[in-house]
Amino acid sequence: MERLGCNSILRVLGSAVEKKPPVWMMRQAGRYLPEYREVRAKAGGFVDLCLTPALAAEVTLQPIRRFHFDAAIIFSDILIVPYALGVKLWFEEGEGPRLDPVAERAALQGMREAPDPAITQRVYEAISKVKAELSRETALIGFCGAPWTVASYMVAGRGTPDQGPARQLAKSDPNLFSEIIRKLVDATAAHLLGQLEAGADLLQLFDTWAGVLDDDSFERWCVKPCAEIIRRVRASKPEAKFILFPKGISVANMQKIVSACGADGISVDMRAQRIAVRDALAGNCTIQGNLDPDILIAGGEKLDRAVDEILEDFRGIRHIFNLGHGIKPETPIAHVERMIARIRG
Ligand code: CP3
Repeated sequence: MERLGCNSILRVLGSAVEKKPPVWMMRQAGRYLPEYREVRAKAGGFVDLCLTPALAAEVTLQPIRRFHFDAAIIFSDILIVPYALGVKLWFEEGEGPRLDPVAERAALQGMREAPDPAITQRVYEAISKVKAELSRETALIGFCGAPWTVASYMVAGRGTPDQGPARQLAKSDPNLFSEIIRKLVDATAAHLLGQLEAGADLLQLFDTWAGVLDDDSFERWCVKPCAEIIRRVRASKPEAKFILFPKGISVANMQKIVSACGADGISVDMRAQRIAVRDALAGNCTIQGNLDPDILIAGGEKLDRAVDEILEDFRGIRHIFNLGHGIKPETPIAHVERMIARIRG
């Protein structure tokens, strides 16, 4: 309770409409920043960077120092949860994540029951360090991947164009797949609680691959697990605030997941129809997102126009300005500055 109202993100996630929406960016700490690339080169691997508290705290704070965003998001990754459950994880340079696939019962049985505290403690230590440096006006966001998206990387052992391997396993062996999801629900609820206890002000659940599922599968693998996670976190922390990012879903499914979860906010991608989203959801939760990361790369008047349209369509509702997906490495820093200046007028 004590922190409610002390920064604009928490205010809009409550009941306030701000004159100017608060702003932060998904993937705001990352390769488009020279100061990030410098720390990244020193850290060795990406996983080492995530799990070295002083470095993770430093790169979390870099975009706050440069742009004074209204929120910091702890530098980590959604795949740290399977890693803490004993799944081998590494990042191929220029390609992306690789994991030892968990597509058979033996691999599932080889995993830990609960996340290794020696790993998760490092994230909590980074959160405490960031919290000590942030002013009260800047919210600190903790996060996890939603079980469906995390499971989709575990099953394939990597990202794929449509996460086909996980969709196939969910159809061919739903019992095994639901055991993978159950393990992730337990570990995710625990890791989110740990982040709140370490000092996170609010939590975001990333479900990047929600949009590849049919409606029944969405209900089973996205809505129910996310609702269960939030129920468990709020059993210990009734005030916990949640933003969901179920990318690529219909407005009807947005309504379904927000109400099943009691979510405080929903983050929408660049393809979302703003007016339909506003009319269906603004009465129930805060709306975040939608600026196309490619328009941020284009810059100039195209960017100004896109920012103005979002501000206009979401005027008078609880709104957090953000991108529809993560910022891309080739984005010019001047364009980020231009976007923020436009939003803050
Ligand atoms: O937003 C932030 O700045 C906080 C940190 C954060 C990262 N990943 C750091 C990261 C967050 C919130 C994530 C979430 C994440 N990770 C998601 C969900 C959101 C989304 O973008 O869809 C997913 C699917 C992952 C898994 C993952 N991690 C992939 C597929 C990749 C490779 C693609 C890429 O952009 O390189 C990563 C790597 C990753 N995670 C980087 C960063 C800054 C780049 C690593 C580097 O420095 O080389």
